[in-house]
Amino acid sequence: MSYPVYSYRSLFPSLSSHIHLASCSQGALASPVSKAIEYYHNSLIAKGNNWHDAMGKVEAARGKFAELIGAETDEIAVLTSVSHAVSAVAASLPCQKYMNKIVFTDIDFPTVGHIWYAQDDFKDNIICICSNNGIIQPEQYEKQITGDTLLTCIPHVSYQNGFKQDIREIANIVHQKGSLLFVDAYQSAGHIPIDVKEMEIDILAAGTRKYMLGIPGTAFLYIRKELAEQLKPRMTGWLGQQKSSAFNIHHSQFAEGARRFETGTPSFISVYAGYEALNLLLSVGIDHIHSYLNDLAQLIWHYGREKGLHIIGPKDHEYRSSLTAIYAENAGEIERILRERNIIVSARKNAVRIAPHFYNTSEEIVHAIDELAKLVNGGKF
Ligand SMILES: Cc1ncc(COP(=O)(O)O)c(C=O)c1O
Repeated sequence: MSYPVYSYRSLFPSLSSHIHLASCSQGALASPVSKAIEYYHNSLIAKGNNWHDAMGKVEAARGKFAELIGAETDEIAVLTSVSHAVSAVAASLPCQKYMNKIVFTDIDFPTVGHIWYAQDDFKDNIICICSNNGIIQPEQYEKQITGDTLLTCIPHVSYQNGFKQDIREIANIVHQKGSLLFVDAYQSAGHIPIDVKEMEIDILAAGTRKYMLGIPGTAFLYIRKELAEQLKPRMTGWLGQQKSSAFNIHHSQFAEGARRFETGTPSFISVYAGYEALNLLLSVGIDHIHSYLNDLAQLIWHYGREKGLHIIGPKDHEYRSSLTAIYAENAGEIERILRERNIIVSARKNAVRIAPHFYNTSEEIVHAIDELAKLVNGGKF
């Protein structure tokens, strides 16, 4: 593990007292990100109204996210949450007689299912592909996506167990069937390289709070340009207009590209934070982060097993990401006890998720697993 993490650790003040392994939930706060939050706060005091600066930052953040995923700037909408992004797309899709089916999976984050079942036009034609031990085989997509499937929603990485899907392979299947592909990249953006063009993704959403190292309040929606122009937003607002500054209540013309999916004022403070976080990630380099995290994930896998932990999720390295889920009856309680010991992990149902980032070291992983193993195996509460 030769990658020089130490040169970046000083940028994360909490690492001097905590082992932060919860990037699947909230990334550690970096100093440039804190400074951006402070800057926004101070500029409100100093300037009273900082609208123009803040809108400039929204454009800058849009550009950074476009760079992260290999998109054009006008293919990105700046929204407030992934749920907002999925809802915006769901409300805009035309339900046609022979193109009326929506496919998603049971490894999607629950918000995806909640949103689709709330769409009256589609609710009788929704198919949920069921995983087997938290894994979905490409053949299942082959079988369940049919010629009338308008949209297929999949997560890049499962929030439950870190299962990483082969997007290119699934995109091929989806497109051969004539469906559109929506990828929820909230658990991959910021640590796994994404190129929407090369992966042939039609629509993608990700928020800034997890591996993207920002704070809640910002999510980005990518929509392939030609596709965005064909969609008519029904969840809308003044900032989705071509000329929002005309303030003409009777005239409505949607903005070009993905901007038409924007609604009202973004969470500026979160956009300032997100911009700096993306800047940091891009300067470290997603390829570097990815290969370093591959090594850490291997360590978690091998050392975790050596310590007798039951790792949930794919056995095959190719389908594993750096998010590792460990079975524990009382995962929530273990998360709480570990937090008291300054080890930050994230529990979901009967799993403790360990999700490192480029700022973690192998020594931290070993210590966290030792502590976790004592709790899981020995039940020492
Ligand atoms: C994969 C994935 N998608 C969506 C969400 C929900 O995002 P939001 O709260 O921004 O709607 C989460 C949250 O944990 C997630 O892990």
